[in-house]
Amino acid sequence: MIYNSIIDTIGNTPLVRLNKLNKGIKGQILVKVEYFNPGNSMKDRMAIKMVEDAEKEGLLKPGGTIIEGTSGNTGMGLALAAIAKGYKCIFTMADKQSKEKIDILKAVGAEVIVCPTNVSPDDPRSYYSVAKKLNQDIPNSFYPNQYDNLSNTKAHYETTGPEIWNDTEGKITHYAAGVGTGGSMCGTAKYLKEKNPDVVTVGIDTYGSVFKKYKETGVFDENEVYPYLTEGIGEDILPKNVDFSVIDHFVKVTDKDAAVMTRRLSKEEGLFVGWSCGSAVHGALEWAKENLKEEDTMVIILPDHGTRYLGKIYNDDWMRNHGFLENKSFGTARDIIAARNGSYQLVVSQKTDKVKDAIALMNGKSVSQIPVMDNGHVIGSITDNKLLSKIIENPDLKDAAVTDVMEDSMKFVALDSTLDVLSSMVDKEKAVLVRDENHHIHIITKHDILEAITK
Ligand SMILES: Cc1ncc(COP(=O)(O)O)c(C=O)c1O
Repeated sequence: MIYNSIIDTIGNTPLVRLNKLNKGIKGQILVKVEYFNPGNSMKDRMAIKMVEDAEKEGLLKPGGTIIEGTSGNTGMGLALAAIAKGYKCIFTMADKQSKEKIDILKAVGAEVIVCPTNVSPDDPRSYYSVAKKLNQDIPNSFYPNQYDNLSNTKAHYETTGPEIWNDTEGKITHYAAGVGTGGSMCGTAKYLKEKNPDVVTVGIDTYGSVFKKYKETGVFDENEVYPYLTEGIGEDILPKNVDFSVIDHFVKVTDKDAAVMTRRLSKEEGLFVGWSCGSAVHGALEWAKENLKEEDTMVIILPDHGTRYLGKIYNDDWMRNHGFLENKSFGTARDIIAARNGSYQLVVSQKTDKVKDAIALMNGKSVSQIPVMDNGHVIGSITDNKLLSKIIENPDLKDAAVTDVMEDSMKFVALDSTLDVLSSMVDKEKAVLVRDENHHIHIITKHDILEAITK
């Protein structure tokens, strides 16, 4: 068979049976290996669809420039489409992404602009905002916006869904996928559920992302958002491509569990895949252990290839530096809280307090940082060294309200976050907060983590 250009080879990726990692799980577990696409990821499917839909709608004209905020894989798909169709590409990317992903995009002719990861999406420095601004400034440019562009979901509805349905001869009972923009989960899920409404879908989320809590409670909780390492899944926004009505369950997976599972996929199944593939398989198998029956067939989509992560999860030094190669379990935030034996009370300042009251409180209780509360909600924080420098600059601040000097709130983390994950999240200065089952808030500092790890 001869193809007219590389983009005609997108899709029709193989379904492969897991033979080892599924030990002890009933039913068959199949993985859809998306690195067989020409850009080595499933995002080729939606990239070409977004470009072709934009051409049809007159949004992309000959000689135009494609501008996108991308974690790399969408960029690769767009770059291939651009080469085949004669467009230019500029991509903005968060600086947590692998260097390999940036170099790969440059290799296929794109210009890449790297932006800071730990700023809010509406900050002008974020990769979302920079892409939007470039789109406004560059004439004849097209900003696909993979998050809200429904061609993304449609691509998977039209290709991934039917391929899975046909390859399993309609026997699929469960579909699992990581959720980033939501396209690969929701387009495929919509198609499969139209074919058979009993197909159960399991979305894989990360700690540090809003999806699971939003699905389960309807609350968009900014306290769920904190930096994490896994690339491609989890969000701090609700993209239009995430249709919660077709995602039945969410499972959260830690960076470490995902990294360890990805390496096992390579070593034990010969599937040299990317980091979010480990998230998908770890989360899906955890769910399958409890829920799958002998006659069931689960399909898990594996988004991309391992080459993009050679400097990270496939590098032993990197894994060790992140505490991901430790065999011994360090325990979780829950263990730190349990060890306090209920003897501990969170020290807080109220929104109405004066700065001098907060200082007296911190001195009296010998703590260096406290959350600021308003009606039971955490609205900010005070840390002694930042406060000190502010007061030295302006001594009158002692009589100001705490809200005039407070910083951002400490981040909330899940009760079952493991200590290695916690340690990657406590900033140089700032502690993290945990809410227990009784809705009591606890603070965990770097010192607490060190103490628990060395016990
Ligand atoms: C490596 C990787 N995994 C998972 C995803 C999530 O897929 P989706 O955006 O379809 O939800 C992406 C998307 O960028 C990705 O690049």
